[in-house]
Amino acid sequence: MTRASSPRTDAANQTRRMRTYALANHKGGSGKTTTAIHLAGALAARGRRVLLIDLDPQAHATLGLSCEAEDSPCALEVLTGEVRALDALHAAPGGITLIPGHARLAEFEERAARELGAEGALRRALAPLAERFDDCLLDCPPRADGLLTANAIRACDTVLLTVETGAFALQGALKAQEIVDETLAAARHAPELRVVATMFDRRLRIAREVLIAMQARFGERLFDTAIRSSARLREAAGAGVPIQLLAPRSSAAQDFAALADELALSPVGA
Ligand SMILES: Nc1ncnc2c1ncn2[C@@H]1O[C@H](COP(=O)(O)OP(=O)(O)OP(=O)(O)O)[C@@H](O)[C@H]1O
Ligand SMILES: [Mg+2]
Repeated sequence: MTRASSPRTDAANQTRRMRTYALANHKGGSGKTTTAIHLAGALAARGRRVLLIDLDPQAHATLGLSCEAEDSPCALEVLTGEVRALDALHAAPGGITLIPGHARLAEFEERAARELGAEGALRRALAPLAERFDDCLLDCPPRADGLLTANAIRACDTVLLTVETGAFALQGALKAQEIVDETLAAARHAPELRVVATMFDRRLRIAREVLIAMQARFGERLFDTAIRSSARLREAAGAGVPIQLLAPRSSAAQDFAALADELALSPVGA
């Protein structure tokens, strides 16, 4: 759903520097992974070279793209420098390239905790890929104050805060915003913060109220596009493909195309 229509932008006209987005929130289940997968699909469908990195030990983005990293490198080995990012790339459905996640990512917090500059590991690891991809989406775990999310925030141009339009959602988003601000202050690095409303159902009063509160709180930082609730997205998760392959004409595919349009039109974060 969009509040205002956006003109389509030709991918070829965009700057060819990789734009990196961290999907984050302090509240679990806010639509981070769903947004990461289908926004990646929408960007790939318009011809952009898209890399998705699954930084969540739950590995839902990896499963949602029918991949696994049991016997191959995952984001952990990229973060620790055991494997080059280039050697951890998987071809995923919908033209997306994936660096998979795995349960062993949970070890990162402990392994890197005492290392100097551990928050900058992902940024350093991704530098060699800057010419290879147009967009890089980082799917973060539910905790915004952990080392994995800190790495994503340091590595990105834009933090995409996904906020479910349901009860208590705004509190989670504000907490995440606080953590993002703290991380940025410590890093002296300034990605922009943008907010996307998810699981929107206009029939529900709570959803309409939360959307209005989000507009008041985040202003220009809120995308016009709200991702509507859609059973098709749950089906896509089960099928392990982006919505653009499962149901290209669905409202969900339209929403992610509109979000991709908005991203294409926004300047890259500082
Ligand atoms: N727009 C939507 N319509 C319907 N269901 C959705 C939508 N967005 C997400 N969901 C469902 O809500 C659940 C949580 O979504 P998702 O996994 O994307 O959240 P998350 O923020 O990544 O969660 P976590 O914090 O556990 O990583 C999933 O079952 C997903 O299929
Ligand atoms: Mg997730």
